[in-house]
Amino acid sequence: MSPPQSPPTSERSSVSDSTDARTPSALDLGAFPAGFSWGTATSAYQIEGAVAEDGRGPSIWDTFSHTPGAIDNGDHGDVACDHYHRWPEDVALMRGLGVDAYRLSIAWPRVLPTGDGALNAPGLDFYDRLVDGLLDAGITPSVTLYHWDLPQALQDRGGWAERETAEHFGRYAEIVGARLGDRVTQWATLNEPLCSAWIGHLEGRMAPGLTDLTAAVRASYHLLLGHGLAAQALRAAAPAAQVGIVTNHSTVTPASTRPEDIAAAGRMDGHTNRWWLDPVYGRGFPADLRELYGVELPERPGDLATIATPLDWHGVNYYFPVTVADDPAGPVPYAREVRLPDVPRTGMDWQIDGGGLEALLMRLTDDYGARRLYVTENGSAFPDRVGPDGTVDDPERTAYLEEHVAACARALRKGAPLAGYYAWSLLDNFEWAYGYDKRFGLVHVDYATQRRTVKGSGLRYADIIRAHRGLTA
Ligand code: IFM
Repeated sequence: MSPPQSPPTSERSSVSDSTDARTPSALDLGAFPAGFSWGTATSAYQIEGAVAEDGRGPSIWDTFSHTPGAIDNGDHGDVACDHYHRWPEDVALMRGLGVDAYRLSIAWPRVLPTGDGALNAPGLDFYDRLVDGLLDAGITPSVTLYHWDLPQALQDRGGWAERETAEHFGRYAEIVGARLGDRVTQWATLNEPLCSAWIGHLEGRMAPGLTDLTAAVRASYHLLLGHGLAAQALRAAAPAAQVGIVTNHSTVTPASTRPEDIAAAGRMDGHTNRWWLDPVYGRGFPADLRELYGVELPERPGDLATIATPLDWHGVNYYFPVTVADDPAGPVPYAREVRLPDVPRTGMDWQIDGGGLEALLMRLTDDYGARRLYVTENGSAFPDRVGPDGTVDDPERTAYLEEHVAACARALRKGAPLAGYYAWSLLDNFEWAYGYDKRFGLVHVDYATQRRTVKGSGLRYADIIRAHRGLTA
């Protein structure tokens, strides 16, 4: 096992100043430039429902969510938030919140039901109407092409473990870009390829539910290759396209000063962060991780240049930091997460630490030279309830939001080229293997009635946006 190439982020960046980030005055909205984009985010399978409507084909998430035992409570996305039918109401909600932008994803199997075959026009028409509806409401669409819902037909032929999936992804990008590129300029290829590869192919907790290191490493490679091919296809089909990728990261801290734990943190940092950033920024796949995985990459000449196709922007999804200890008998990367006592946590049991977001933004700025950054997801789940007066009071989510907005302000003051922040999520929705119990929305959804109620955190977000606009008008 090689030593890590660089020490864990948390060792290199001291994360906080003495400010209490939880007080509204600590938000420092003056740090956010005029034109900073405040948004909300969702993804197709988590909100749309209508899984068998208008010619949509099945995705790996339809298959996985109907696999007995895969999802808490046997939940699935068949109806979800019924956004496919209720999108005008959801656009109106965003307009009420005053957001500048909305990050949505397109369901590949709505557009190409088998992934590579004939176009399904009604599927693409849906997104066409949604984009027009957003623009009419003064909201800028930010479109992600892949948020995990691979057409099942491609999975049946090996999915992301096979090169052809990356190539089909390029064609899909070209089709969508050609149709929407006259109105959409902000494009992301992939959302969180780490989750697709590591959680979906190695840990088996997400679709396609595999526990196979070789498949996982191959999938990671083909996802990034697909990103590069899609970026090129988008630019060819839509010359105004501003193309980025969305990756999720955590800061990694060793559980002790033991050399073994420090080395474990380096491995986890590689597995979580460097494996996804280095190739995209032209550094190739990290040698220490390649040795650790021991899986031959399905490399062909020119692939690394395709993967490193220059980005117009980079989207960071951040939720929590991790602390790890050496775990030689455990699974790759032989680093076990240690649960710190007495730290604030969300309803996902994720540690709350806005400093981690600041550190990651600075790492992307200083170490990787990112030219334009967005926080494309950030948010928290708590068990909300509609009160007798019809309101949803969620002070913990509000505090989380404020803490992380304050972290963005600190990163901006230090020079991070941060251009926008998207709260995850607009709506409570299908939280993958956790089903509907975990609520991330700024807007509460009563799944029995599909009634939407803006939570206290949503109102607070609207205040922040309004206050910032007031400062920069
Ligand atoms: O709900 C997910 C989203 O789909 C991807 N990023 C993390 C969110 C919360 O787990």
